[in-house]
Amino acid sequence: MLGQELSRVVTSNDNYNVLQPAHNELDLTKIDALEAYISAHKPEFIINCAALINVDKIEEDPLPAFQLNALVPGHLASICAHLKIKGVIIQMSTSYVFGHRNTPFTEEDSACPINMYGKSKALGETLLSSYANKGNLKYYIIRTSWLYSRFRDTFVDETAKKLLSKITVNATVDQYGNPTNAEHLASFIISELIEKDHPQNIIHAINKTPESGVNRYEWALAIAEALGVSSDLVIAAKAENIFKTPRPRAILQKSQKCNMPDWRESTNQYIHLKYGQ
Ligand SMILES: NC(=O)c1ccc[n+]([C@@H]2O[C@H](COP(=O)([O-])OP(=O)(O)OC[C@H]3O[C@@H](n4cnc5c(N)ncnc54)[C@H](OP(=O)(O)O)[C@@H]3O)[C@@H](O)[C@H]2O)c1
Repeated sequence: MLGQELSRVVTSNDNYNVLQPAHNELDLTKIDALEAYISAHKPEFIINCAALINVDKIEEDPLPAFQLNALVPGHLASICAHLKIKGVIIQMSTSYVFGHRNTPFTEEDSACPINMYGKSKALGETLLSSYANKGNLKYYIIRTSWLYSRFRDTFVDETAKKLLSKITVNATVDQYGNPTNAEHLASFIISELIEKDHPQNIIHAINKTPESGVNRYEWALAIAEALGVSSDLVIAAKAENIFKTPRPRAILQKSQKCNMPDWRESTNQYIHLKYGQ
């Protein structure tokens, strides 16, 4: 989803020669193939958006996620260092590298994941930074949260479709995050990290949200309002009654250099564009 948004932003710009191997063209967990690909193309920037993200599936069977989410970022840096490729590596990460807290997590906070998905992503960050530092490579770790995009149905689309069909939506009141439009994130990555230099390695890139974050119930109400349908269809629920695997109550504190629009305005805009309301 984010990969497709990035691809849309960069392919419309003639300054870039973009390679975008799909999973069936390049399985990143096949390390020899990955090395051969990097060696052949010598990229100036590598943006790794590939991940396994199904939290419940990963909790039951974590190995594939550790192979892709944890080992691949380390291999990317190790391969670039070994091949003496001075490309910049941009690794996508998540608020799920953190655990429960009522106040926002900053870029300086240490990872403290509570589920296997978060653990796999946190280890990916550690391996990437460790091999990149050893190889003197430039890298960025972009943590984001609750993405939505026209390229894949997410909470926003599932909620919108149910509300438009007059089906009730159970939305959690005790799960907080930072709803983020993947299109805005893609533009931020290109304009601030590819076209400019950024002083930090770890960047929290999200739409602007209140310091206390946004819960799914508030988000569903905002979707109902944008659609112009009754908010009575939105039912407040508890996370423990909806999710099999615990999700962290982790809110990110936005990077100072990140000027992505407000979460409500962005949700509104998305609904209007996609559902014509
Ligand atoms: N979605 C969110 O709400 C969210 C929130 C915070 C952070 N993030 C992070 O943002 C990044 C992008 O997430 P997303 O939502 O765009 O994910 P996504 O829609 O699930 O896309 C992941 C991509 O990875 C590919 N992939 C899976 N296994 C692969 C392999 N072995 N080799 C090569 N490609 C492989 C998938 O291809 P196939 O589908 O063909 O297998 C898919 O195109 C991830 O790092 C994620 O952790 C996402």
